[in-house]
Amino acid sequence: MAEESDEIIVQKPPFQTPKGVHDILPVDHEYHTYIKKVVRHRARQAGFRRVSTPIFEFTEVFKRSIGDTSDIVSKEMYTFQDRKGRSLTLKPEGTAGVVRSYIQNNMNQLPQPLMLYYYEPHFRYDRPQKGRYRQFWQFGFEIIGESDAALDAQIIQLAYKIYQDLGVDKVLKLQINTIGTAEARKKYVGVLQDYYTGKERSLCEDCRYRLKTNPMRLLDCKQEDCKILAQLAPIMKDYLDKESLDFHEELRGYLDEMGLKYEENPKLVRGLDYYAKTVFEFVEIEKDQVAQNALGGGGRYDGLIELMGGQPTPAVGMAAGIERIIASMKREKVRVPSKDDLHVFVAQLGNEAKRKCLPLIEKLRNAGLKTMGALGKGSINVQLKIADKFKVPYTVLIGLTEVREGNAIIRNMEKGVQETVKMEKVVSRLVKLIGEKNLDRYTPGELLYS
Ligand code: HAM
Repeated sequence: MAEESDEIIVQKPPFQTPKGVHDILPVDHEYHTYIKKVVRHRARQAGFRRVSTPIFEFTEVFKRSIGDTSDIVSKEMYTFQDRKGRSLTLKPEGTAGVVRSYIQNNMNQLPQPLMLYYYEPHFRYDRPQKGRYRQFWQFGFEIIGESDAALDAQIIQLAYKIYQDLGVDKVLKLQINTIGTAEARKKYVGVLQDYYTGKERSLCEDCRYRLKTNPMRLLDCKQEDCKILAQLAPIMKDYLDKESLDFHEELRGYLDEMGLKYEENPKLVRGLDYYAKTVFEFVEIEKDQVAQNALGGGGRYDGLIELMGGQPTPAVGMAAGIERIIASMKREKVRVPSKDDLHVFVAQLGNEAKRKCLPLIEKLRNAGLKTMGALGKGSINVQLKIADKFKVPYTVLIGLTEVREGNAIIRNMEKGVQETVKMEKVVSRLVKLIGEKNLDRYTPGELLYS
């Protein structure tokens, strides 16, 4: 007979999510809800209206806009055929769909510039790793219809404000660059190809391919040898036209005026082909040298609307990765306010105390205080540990002495200080401490609208 083993064999459930995609569990939904609210609030303040484009589009929408030779189009798209053999693709980013929609719905007839925002899932067949997923969420902003560096500055300022609201601004730095107009860039691309010719053997496989198709991407490769070569490569700005350089100077002026700190990164080129002039990224300071370090990025795409069949129309935009923001918020210990958060935990010791607790809990709840009672038989310490887990701001403690004297103890859990209050004053005292505006009063008629 085989010997019995103490080893616990954890069996994998038969069904799992595919690699690179994740459930959003309740705890993360609290972050999503909060981020969505912050984005909506800041967007409204600045006059943006929400837009949602379909999860899938004709493949050509992305090929044309993002560019055939970009990493996204050449190897990261989820493309499939429908029953009639048409090629469709799950959207890998938001701008292409928004531009398609702008043209299709004649949005050029609306007052310009048109300011749109979105909060949507996107799909890229990327190599999954921390911060890089195959389904991920972005919020994004697009301003279409005007070419002015003040708008680039406005988009950057808006994104910065949101990072600030979410408590992650401290971990980020803003990097900016100009990649000039498409015309001006041609000359530089030629110079770059000349520079790398003969050095192919030192490049990674991806860069050897990019040298033929998209040489500017060699500048922001994160492989060690490629980075060394990129450091010595000719600088883009030396080859750009006056218009692009003046535009960039204007942008710098506006950012300075708004007191926004930034760093020039001449190697910042971004991975999508539609950009012209301004490009920028918000990168995590600690992860300067690694991939997946951007919490958001964007730039100007003045040629894209014409390329997609519309009238020549300038535009600028940005998008931010929500999973990466959430990871940063967690690292920074940013607590997200949730409607489900409890206000009060009621702990008791002894049967007498328990009897007093029940009506008290009822009164607290009726007053709009979200209250949980520990009515089991655990010691006060065990109950306080539970209160800690629920992260309640206040705990009410009732023991034998309190029952005898008609009192209760209100403990401020964060500060660890407590006060003794007459039993009949507990509710009003806690209402005051929590604040009228934070109460959750149950009024059946209003529930529909809350
Ligand atoms: P992007 O730089 O490709 O730009 O993506 C924006 C942000 O989405 C990134 O900075 C990152 O935070 C997040 N992100 C991208 N790929 C992944 C992934 N596989 N997993 C997790 N997060 C990811 C754009 O998408 C442009 N459409 C931005 C834009 C809008 N430009 C002009 N308007």
